[in-house]
Amino acid sequence: MHTRFTELLGCRAPIQLAGMGWVAGPDLAAAVARAGGAGTVAPHMLPAPALAPMLDQLVARAAGPVGVNVLIPFLDPDAVDVAASRTRYVEFFYGDPDHTLVERVHAHGALAAWQVGSPGEAVAAEQAGCDFVIAQGIEAGGHVRGSTALLPLLDAVLDAVDVPVVAAGGIATARGLAAVLAAGAGAARIGTRFLAAAEADVHPDYREALVGAVAADTELTEAFSTTWPDAPHRVLRTCITTARTRTADPVATIVLGDATVPVPRLGPMAPTRSTTGDVAAMALYAGQGVAAVREILPAAEIVAELTDGAERLLRGDARSSIS
Ligand SMILES: Cc1cc2nc3c(=O)[nH]c(=O)nc-3n(C[C@H](O)[C@H](O)[C@H](O)COP(=O)(O)O)c2cc1C
Repeated sequence: MHTRFTELLGCRAPIQLAGMGWVAGPDLAAAVARAGGAGTVAPHMLPAPALAPMLDQLVARAAGPVGVNVLIPFLDPDAVDVAASRTRYVEFFYGDPDHTLVERVHAHGALAAWQVGSPGEAVAAEQAGCDFVIAQGIEAGGHVRGSTALLPLLDAVLDAVDVPVVAAGGIATARGLAAVLAAGAGAARIGTRFLAAAEADVHPDYREALVGAVAADTELTEAFSTTWPDAPHRVLRTCITTARTRTADPVATIVLGDATVPVPRLGPMAPTRSTTGDVAAMALYAGQGVAAVREILPAAEIVAELTDGAERLLRGDARSSIS
């Protein structure tokens, strides 16, 4: 499946693993890259000296393009240098596109990208020098930048910019992948579906909650805003109600790199395997494609299922058996 995105990144599958704070770790990013996609890690707040060996190991075993996700509210310029000097791309989210950051990435020879929520932000990202943009619809799990559903947003962004566009938000099946490729996207960025990959660093209770959920069980909220205010996010509704009934603070601890850190009540961290405490009261992010999360599979099987199915659909074989 050849697109402008696969050509730019040098990968075989038009699939980008979404950067997902700590839960999409090196194991998952390497597995997606080995399966032909692009693998993104999002080790927010990991100090640059610890990020370097983690990325060196990731690149050594990925056998495909990997990149690093950077959240502008938690920006560490040293980490950007470390990431750009080791990986194929550095992508930014949740802040106005900034040409100085893009130039910083390019200076190390990496590609720069911005996840955006509006056509205006996509144009700003292209003008800042980004090599590709990610259009994120409000169906997405995790933090949501804009206020438009994916299809109208993708339509407008494809009209507005010349760089390759990756579509994000609620894409979890072959049909979703085929739809955005047919519309002109260079790839689908997939988060929620990969939370059920065997290699994802997701707490078992979080996984269990995802497996039973459907789109109507998700809600766009500002509930988990401690340390990151004014940033709506889509989670499983159950965790909002649970978290609001709890008074303990912190609610849990989580291991990030070598450090064990407290998770504040209504804080934005999602529970990894290393989390101990009140997991049900933490941010259980999920997009509207969550109904496709039905079983735990190796990431390579998810990539193959999506790409094989999308290929058949794009050939016009709409009755083909795809899940
Ligand atoms: C558990 C989880 C954590 C996320 N964390 C981040 C993050 O750290 N940085 C980021 O840019 N986006 C983050 N996102 C949003 C994704 O980049 C992407 O837009 C989203 O996953 C796409 O929608 P989908 O989940 O329906 O596939 C997160 C999403 C989820 C589900």
